[in-house]
Amino acid sequence: MARRAEEFTRAFSPERMMLSDISEVVMLEQSVSPTPWSGTIFTDCLKAGYECWVLRSSEVFGYLILASAARESHLLNIAIHPNSQGRGFGRSFLEFAISLATNEDSERLFLEVRPSNSTARALYQKRGFQFLGRRPNYYGRPAKEDALVLSLEFIPD
Ligand SMILES: CC(C)(COP(=O)(O)OP(=O)(O)OC[C@H]1O[C@@H](n2cnc3c(N)ncnc32)[C@H](O)[C@@H]1OP(=O)(O)O)[C@@H](O)C(=O)NCCC(=O)NCCS
Repeated sequence: MARRAEEFTRAFSPERMMLSDISEVVMLEQSVSPTPWSGTIFTDCLKAGYECWVLRSSEVFGYLILASAARESHLLNIAIHPNSQGRGFGRSFLEFAISLATNEDSERLFLEVRPSNSTARALYQKRGFQFLGRRPNYYGRPAKEDALVLSLEFIPD
């Protein structure tokens, strides 16, 4: 058990995404998203100065993108490689995103999620995200689907 925890800690070590990571990030994105972002979108996020982070062992197995402005943070993307899912990385990476948002003095963190994405919805719900609203037909493929907008409010000290 202690060894497992030690291995997890070693593996869970977020690093800033570099331009050179983008080809691996795009491959991972293609394996987890029905509407994958292109390399250009990830490059634009880096250039815009968004918080872009990866998890890597020998290869990138996770990434997240977070944008903050006007005391609000928006989790634009988060993913864990299918081979590494279900081992707590997603939960820890979400916690890391929350710490990035609070470091920006954000009052809340919001995100969009597909109603059909029960894994992600369970993760967000457990962490206390609340339903804020729907964006109709936000996702175009494979079938038109609304986005659920979820929000986590930060209570000031
Ligand atoms: C959503 C995602 C990031 C979760 O990462 P993960 O490493 O698998 O998650 P964890 O192992 O930390 O599990 C966290 C919680 O997710 C939920 N979860 C994980 N695997 C699940 C599964 N197979 N079925 C249902 N819920 C599941 C559970 O609530 C779990 O909490 P628990 O362990 O206390 O039960 C990952 O599934 C993923 O990359 N999905 C594809 C991309 C995506 O959908 N991103 C989110 C877009 S909004």
